[in-house]
Amino acid sequence: MKKNIYRLFAILALTYACSGHREDKRNIVPAPSTFYQNDGGSFKISANTRIIIQPETPELQQLADSLSAFISKASGFKVETMAFSTGESLDNYILLSTFQADSGYGKEGYKLKVEPNGILIHANTGAGIFYGIQSLKQLLPLEIFSGKAESIEVKSAYISDKPRFSYRGMHLDVSRHFFPVSFIKRYIDLLSFYKMNTFHWHLTDDNGWRIEIKKYPGLTEKSAWHVDRNNQLWNEVTPPQPGEKATVGGFYTQEEIREVVRYAASRYVTIIPEIEMPGHSCEVFAAYPNLSCKGDTLPVQPGTYWPNVDILCAGNDDVFTFIDDVLTEVADLFPGPYIHIGGDEADKTRWSACKKCQRRISAEHLKDEAGLQSWFIKRVEKMVTAKGKKMIGWDEILEGGLAPEATVMSWRGMEGGIEAAKMGHDVIMTPTSYCYFDYYQAEPEGEPLAIGGFVTLKKVYSFEPVPPVLNEMESRHILGAQGNVWTEFIATPEHAEYMAIPRMIALAEVNWTEKENRDYNDFIRRMDHQFAILDQLKVNYGKQSTRVDISLSRNESTGKLMVGMETELYKPEIRYTTDGNDPTATSVVYSAPFEIPASCTIKAAIFKEGKQLGKVSERAFALHSATGLKCEVSPAPSFKYQARGIQSLTDATLGSVNHNDGCWLGFEGDDIEITIDLGKEQMVRNIEVAFLQNLKAWIMLPKSIVLEVADFSGKYAQSNELSVSMVTPADTVLRNNLVIQVKKQNCRFIKLKIKNGGPLPANHLYPGEPAWLFIDEVVVN
Ligand code: ACM
Ligand code: ZN
Repeated sequence: MKKNIYRLFAILALTYACSGHREDKRNIVPAPSTFYQNDGGSFKISANTRIIIQPETPELQQLADSLSAFISKASGFKVETMAFSTGESLDNYILLSTFQADSGYGKEGYKLKVEPNGILIHANTGAGIFYGIQSLKQLLPLEIFSGKAESIEVKSAYISDKPRFSYRGMHLDVSRHFFPVSFIKRYIDLLSFYKMNTFHWHLTDDNGWRIEIKKYPGLTEKSAWHVDRNNQLWNEVTPPQPGEKATVGGFYTQEEIREVVRYAASRYVTIIPEIEMPGHSCEVFAAYPNLSCKGDTLPVQPGTYWPNVDILCAGNDDVFTFIDDVLTEVADLFPGPYIHIGGDEADKTRWSACKKCQRRISAEHLKDEAGLQSWFIKRVEKMVTAKGKKMIGWDEILEGGLAPEATVMSWRGMEGGIEAAKMGHDVIMTPTSYCYFDYYQAEPEGEPLAIGGFVTLKKVYSFEPVPPVLNEMESRHILGAQGNVWTEFIATPEHAEYMAIPRMIALAEVNWTEKENRDYNDFIRRMDHQFAILDQLKVNYGKQSTRVDISLSRNESTGKLMVGMETELYKPEIRYTTDGNDPTATSVVYSAPFEIPASCTIKAAIFKEGKQLGKVSERAFALHSATGLKCEVSPAPSFKYQARGIQSLTDATLGSVNHNDGCWLGFEGDDIEITIDLGKEQMVRNIEVAFLQNLKAWIMLPKSIVLEVADFSGKYAQSNELSVSMVTPADTVLRNNLVIQVKKQNCRFIKLKIKNGGPLPANHLYPGEPAWLFIDEVVVN
């Protein structure tokens, strides 16, 4: 037999390699490592084509059967599959082979060759063959995806390909809203089609427990159901009323879970189950109230539950018996290497007041509640490890000390991931600002209501999972990136698709394609074909943003203020005005950054064949002496409110009273210091700084501002101080422009020391909690 295989490979001549010219990766997403196309005609798949596999390879047999089923569904004709045997004429074949390892493409790479007499997919593993087949599908005529292909012709091509990262993940929260097994399978289909290999299944949270645990039937009898608030906004639901029936929710039986696990495995997707602890767990107390600190039976929350104070009691050993039992069943259901234990956003209010938790803190000689959380997670890690699994947690598990073997999922920016990688721990990057697909993907107006934020397709595509501060060794701990779909505001499969796609496809390319092969414009060009495929598959994908991003920067050599414009469409025709009027199909076309000598309002829109796409984008620039100059802020703003970065403080654009409008930097509880270098000594009359007051959103004006200035020597002296008080009544929401006169007028450097206005006052719903400080422009007059 072996001899015959050798003969086969001699004929197929893997040395075919790189004849032909290097191509533009055609339409394949994620972009392959190399794509050559020769002009050698094409191959036609017909009823006489056979899928030939290496003998005695059941895994390849399955892949062949599934490819055959795909072809017959698309074309109506059946392609036979068969093991290779001698005496076969080698013509009109699709050959799948893992014979003779090729070190060039590792565990998941593959080689795909299309010639007039046949197609060869070679890989070292079944996974590689699967990815080769996904690339082949993208080379086929579009109609194949809608089952209307009359003939299937593939142009000659040669691809050699392998992934950059080993972890390529997508997450789905099925607690906030429950999603049926049929959608979970479709989600897995979509992610595997784009060569993602991990599905992070967020199975438990405050709004419902979704996995059957035989030992704790209350979890699916009670914790999986809440009262019906489907007609109310998520963040405005009325609380469950006494005696009201819990009718909304659902769960997956263990049988269904096993079926999904099998389904995923046949698409080379590993599932990571997440069981949230110690926080985001109050649904458990609907059935097992003894596991909380207070012991009250709580109804499952039908909407927002924040702050999530009711969490698992860390002082009660029954809690750890419960967790161990649950994880035993979970470990048995999911064959993958990881169990995710959550660990995020555990409010410590109850722990601080709980005798049992406090006793644990003393008995274990822990410093405080953060130490108790760390102790909790370390104890759970021992259970996870004992079951032969590895533990993953959100980056909060770093607080108070990281468990010895934990893998960290970095979501509050990259910092947690960086810290963990430097300590030698594995990391999955999923920072909100690139990877949260529950955030808006286009201008909120015209989009379905979302949780907030703004993460465009282009933003996702620009993500670089390996931070430059890591050295070569540390970088190896970055396993890859993951997109998260939290479903507070997402109630249906159609809506989940809308939020996940196309951003998931951009992240698939970030994960798969080498950094130097990534090119946003080429991605957008290739996405044209992908959108057409998604249309055939009737996928309800999201609309791309049609916003024109208008930016201002100071040219470092000329000092001129330049306006630039960007969109996330392929070769957009941007037209703009500078006189405040809306642009029309005959306005000036933007081609390159241009200078603005004075304050003005710029309006721009995208046009296609004389018609405007989307809305007019607009930015008003109020120029001042520090416009476009570099400033420094310490500490850095919260990852949640970064505007366009620190330079937003001098970008001549003023924020509205909406703290989410993308102009404001937000600081939680901190005093801050801002310094600006004016570049040369200047006469300065005064400084205007804008702050927000919105107590309902925990935002307070500062207590005081101290202004210091320095001349060229850089020696600061205090110039002025301003005390600030809250504007009454307390529910006033306003943008407050504070003006500070400059006493010594010859300034090169300006420093503002700003004192946070918190904590929240006694009459607030959350008295004593830290207040947010929101700051926008620092205007230098
Ligand atoms: C998270 O978004 N709380 C992980
Ligand atoms: Zn407790």
